[in-house]
Amino acid sequence: MKIYLDTANLNEIREAARWGILSGVTTNPSLLAKEEGADFQDTIRTIAGLVDGPISAEAVSEDADGMVREGREFAAWHPNVIVKVPCTAAGLEAVARLKEDGIRCNVTLIFNANQALMAALAGAFVVSPFIGRLDDISQDGTDLIREIAAIFEQDHDIETQILAASIRHPRHVIESALAGAHIATCPLRVLKQGLTHPLTDRGIERFLSDWRAREATRTPAAAGAGSE
Ligand code: E4P
Repeated sequence: MKIYLDTANLNEIREAARWGILSGVTTNPSLLAKEEGADFQDTIRTIAGLVDGPISAEAVSEDADGMVREGREFAAWHPNVIVKVPCTAAGLEAVARLKEDGIRCNVTLIFNANQALMAALAGAFVVSPFIGRLDDISQDGTDLIREIAAIFEQDHDIETQILAASIRHPRHVIESALAGAHIATCPLRVLKQGLTHPLTDRGIERFLSDWRAREATRTPAAAGAGSE
C-alpha cells in the first residue's frame, strides 16, 4: 500500500518527503484554508515540485459545468494534479467529462459502497472513503474499505484505486491496508505516531550506553587499533 500526506502545509510535506515514503499528497478546501495567505495555485505547483506523484486539488463548484471548468484549470497547473470532486450526481458527471479530456479524478466524501461503485463506473482514478468520519458516528470505516475492495476485485473492468481517507491513527493505516486499500492518506501526526515505538527508543538508548561504556574502558592504544 502507498502512503500519501493529507495536508496543504508545505513544511510538513518537505519533512515527510525527506523520509522517502511519500507517493502523493491530498489537499481539501479546509486544509488549504488553514494555510493563511497561501495562493491555491502556487501551493499546488509547489507541492508538485516536492512530491513526484498524484496531488489532489479539490473543486468547490456545486454543478458539473463548474467542476469541469475548475478541473481543466487545475490539470493545466501540473500533469500530476488529480481533480477532487464530491460524490454527488454533479461530481460523477464531472468525472465522466474530465475523463474524456484525459484528466484524472479523485471522488471524495465516500461513505457507502454504492457511492464507490458509481464513482468507479463514472471513471474515477481513485475513490476516497472517509473512514475516520464513519468511526466518529459509530460505523466501521474499515468494513467499508473491505466491501469496496471486494466489489472492485470481482469486476475486472474497474481500475479505480481505493484511497483510505480521514485517517485518525496508525491502526487505521494498517487496517486499511489489510482491508484492501491501495493508498492511505495520512496527517503527518499519524505518520509520526506510527513511526515511533518506546522499545525502539529504549533500544537505541541501550545500544548507545553500552557502546559508550565500552569506549570508556578501552586504553588509548586499543581504541586506536580498533579504529583502523
Ligand atoms: C482526504 O482526502 C481528506 O482530505 C481527509 O482525509 C479528510 O479527513 P478529516 O476527516 O480528518 O477531515
